[in-house]
Amino acid sequence: MYNISDEVKHVLVNKEELDRITTDLAARISEDYKDKNLVLLGILKGSVPFMSDIMRKITLPAELEFMKVSSYGSGTVSSGELKIHLDVLRTGLENCDILVIEDIIDSGRTLKKVVAHLLEKGARSVKTCTLLDKPSRREVDFTPDYVGREIPDYFVVGYGLDFDEKYRTLPYIGIPNFVFENK
Ligand code: IMP
Ligand code: MG
Repeated sequence: MYNISDEVKHVLVNKEELDRITTDLAARISEDYKDKNLVLLGILKGSVPFMSDIMRKITLPAELEFMKVSSYGSGTVSSGELKIHLDVLRTGLENCDILVIEDIIDSGRTLKKVVAHLLEKGARSVKTCTLLDKPSRREVDFTPDYVGREIPDYFVVGYGLDFDEKYRTLPYIGIPNFVFENK
C-alpha cells in the first residue's frame, strides 16, 4: 500500500527528538512566562503540529491566536513585503505577552515583520519560538528567542513543513527523496 513516508526516507528529526524538543521548550516557556499573560500565536499552516504539541506541555494558562502570512522575499520581490492573509482576530493586545510559534526560520523576513506588526498593534511584549532555525540562510538581522533545533541548509518537510502543500502531516521531519534524486 502507498505510504507517504516512503517519499521522505531521510529522517532528520524523529518523533522521539520532537518529543524531547517540545518538552524542553515548554518547560522553559512555563518558567519564563509565569508572571505574564501568555498568548501563543501560531503562524498558519506550518506551526500547527508543533503548536499543538507544545501547548499541551505548557503548564500555564495560555490563550491561542493565529495569523496567516506570506513573505515575498528573495526570488519574487526583493523588498520582502509581508502579506497578511489572516490577521490576529482580537483587539486590545495591551495586556498580552505574545509568543509567536513558527515552524522554521530561513531568511528571517517573515518573523521579523510579524513581530513589528504585533508591536505596532500594541502588544505588551512579543517573543518568538521556532521549531527549526537555519541561521546560515539569514538575510535580515533577526534572532528568535526559543529555538528547538538549528539545522544546516537542507530543504525539509514534515511535522507541519510542506513542499507545495504536501508532507505536512508526516509525524517527523525529513529530507524528501527528490532532493537527492535531483543532485
Ligand atoms: P523566512 O521568511 O525566509 O524566514 O521564511 C520562513 C518560511 O519559509 C517558513 O514559514 C516556511 O514556510 C518556509 N520554509 C523555509 N525553509 C523551509 C524548508 O526547508 N521547508 C519548508 N518550508 C520552508
Ligand atoms: Mg510555509
